[in-house]
Amino acid sequence: MGKDTVLKFPKGFFWGASTSSFQVEGGITGTDWESAAEKGLVPKIGKAADHYNRYDQDFDIAKSLGHNAHRFSIEWSRIEPEEGKFNHNEIEHYRNVIKALRARNIEPFITLWHFTLPLWFSETGGFERKDAPEIFARYCSFVVDSLSNICTHFSTINEPNVFASHGWLYGAWPPFKRGKFLWIKFGKPDGTWKSAQTLSFSNTLMYFKVTNNLVRAHNESYVAIKKTSPQVNVSVAKHVHAFDSNWNPFNKILAKIAAYLQSGRFMNGIRGHFDSIGLNYYRYTKFGDREVYPKSDMGWNVNPEKIELALKYLARYKKPIFISEAGVADALDKIRAEYIKKQVEGTWRALQTGVDVRGHMYWSLLDNYELALGYEKRFGLVEINYETLERKIRPSAFVYKQIAENNGL
Ligand code: BGC
Repeated sequence: MGKDTVLKFPKGFFWGASTSSFQVEGGITGTDWESAAEKGLVPKIGKAADHYNRYDQDFDIAKSLGHNAHRFSIEWSRIEPEEGKFNHNEIEHYRNVIKALRARNIEPFITLWHFTLPLWFSETGGFERKDAPEIFARYCSFVVDSLSNICTHFSTINEPNVFASHGWLYGAWPPFKRGKFLWIKFGKPDGTWKSAQTLSFSNTLMYFKVTNNLVRAHNESYVAIKKTSPQVNVSVAKHVHAFDSNWNPFNKILAKIAAYLQSGRFMNGIRGHFDSIGLNYYRYTKFGDREVYPKSDMGWNVNPEKIELALKYLARYKKPIFISEAGVADALDKIRAEYIKKQVEGTWRALQTGVDVRGHMYWSLLDNYELALGYEKRFGLVEINYETLERKIRPSAFVYKQIAENNGL
């Protein structure tokens, strides 16, 4: 512990960063996103950060930054390129990735699915399919069975609500369906949402069907995984938008409804089917609040300390919580160091009130493909030069390193 450390974290706390396969690996084919890029609906993906070939170099950097945990995802289309046919060479690739982390004493946290779908699945309806939960559970249990002798932490789904809302309400991501309810059209009518291919009331209904299927997909995967690998720790990576309100009772009700629709509905559906929870935190909204906050490069309000509220929200499920993602787009690295410190302070405050937080993984280790927005948004502790693929550690990464090495702030 450094001599100036004031906010101490529990012994064994995990400090690290996160990535997702599609956003950093490069060379992924046969997915709904690649097909959308070919049609000009989302930016081209190309080599990304070429992490598929450079993971050793990237984990050396993570190690040099004092990380003892790393979250990454497995690309479903690599493992199951055709329905029911599994590619053992790709399992070997991910086994080597895990070994590379273990060799550096970095604990791997695997996400089994982070947004992108194999084309055979998306083209036949994806999570609209009635049998989607069984298909997903078969994939999850195959991967976990193959890797559970060298990895303990597995999350099934990354941000189920974000996946469904961007696909079926805003029309911003595959399958680009935009929802409508009476006079309300979901999603903003500007840039990123122009990709929407249809606008209808039935898309709104489908949003609810898809979210229900995601609940079933998680639950069936949990059961299937536990049958053969009871020792592993299974979670979901849940995006929690922290909702708050001023004194006004009407606003208090609005905040409760928003939290239920955004988080409670899904989390209640999977009760009894998770051993821990991954928290992805980025956003805070206070109903009745007129304050103007500074903005990140995403145009999002900068409220890192409010992670405390998101953690307290999840505490009701009485399971250990790992912060699986939390970070800021800041190309010039002007606010990231302060952002991280405030976020860590918020996490520490939640711990003091008894919330069982076990780790913090910053989003992201590397600059990456920010989905429908392409490569312009920079979340990385490490900057990527997309021409040369050179890696450059940003100054804020050293501030985080100090926190990790001191196990506190
Ligand atoms: C997602 C990431 C994304 C990040 C920043 C999270 O919701 O899991 O894939 O890059 O937010 O937008």
